[in-house]
Amino acid sequence: MLKIKGIKVHITEEEIEQRIREMAEQISAYYGDEPLCLICILKGSVFFTCELAKRITSPVELEFMSVSSYGAGTTSSGVVRINYDLGTSIEGKNILVVEDIIDTGRTLKYLMENMKTRNPKSIKLCTLLDKPERRVVDMEADYVGFVIPDEFVVGYGLDCDQQYRNLPYIGFIEIEE
Ligand code: IMP
Ligand code: MG
Repeated sequence: MLKIKGIKVHITEEEIEQRIREMAEQISAYYGDEPLCLICILKGSVFFTCELAKRITSPVELEFMSVSSYGAGTTSSGVVRINYDLGTSIEGKNILVVEDIIDTGRTLKYLMENMKTRNPKSIKLCTLLDKPERRVVDMEADYVGFVIPDEFVVGYGLDCDQQYRNLPYIGFIEIEE
């Protein structure tokens, strides 16, 4: 059993908010008056999606989807299960998938392929965090909040065994030696 000693702040609440404001500006400038549909990937990206959506000036529709990917240990296998699917058709819409983090890239690989089969007008990907060192499949986001090193992070939606999602900052977990 891992014993957690504490959480070390890596990105403060103010830094996250500032970056989300910049990302929202960039997204609004790109879409202009075209409507776009944000797809929040539950549960991890719920805080990020809400803060981002509030600051986008283009007409926004919000949809939610929940997926889990199964694998041995802490790495996702690429076998993705849809726990909760979109409540509407995305055919002909501008889609922006909003994720908390891209790690190996396997979950998003599956998800983006799946979305494309539903014939959206356009599809882009936005992630709060990116761990490029961990990538095993080719996957790049169109909008990235922060690039982080290969360390396990929690907070601002991200969990460790369902805990710490509500922390207003992003931190590294410190394990008891
Ligand atoms: P991927 O398929 O390996 O890219 O898996 C990405 C998913 O793994 C994310 O949506 C998170 O749910 C989870 N994940 C990856 N790295 C971390 C981390 O550092 N902290 C918390 N969850 C993580
Ligand atoms: Mg996730």
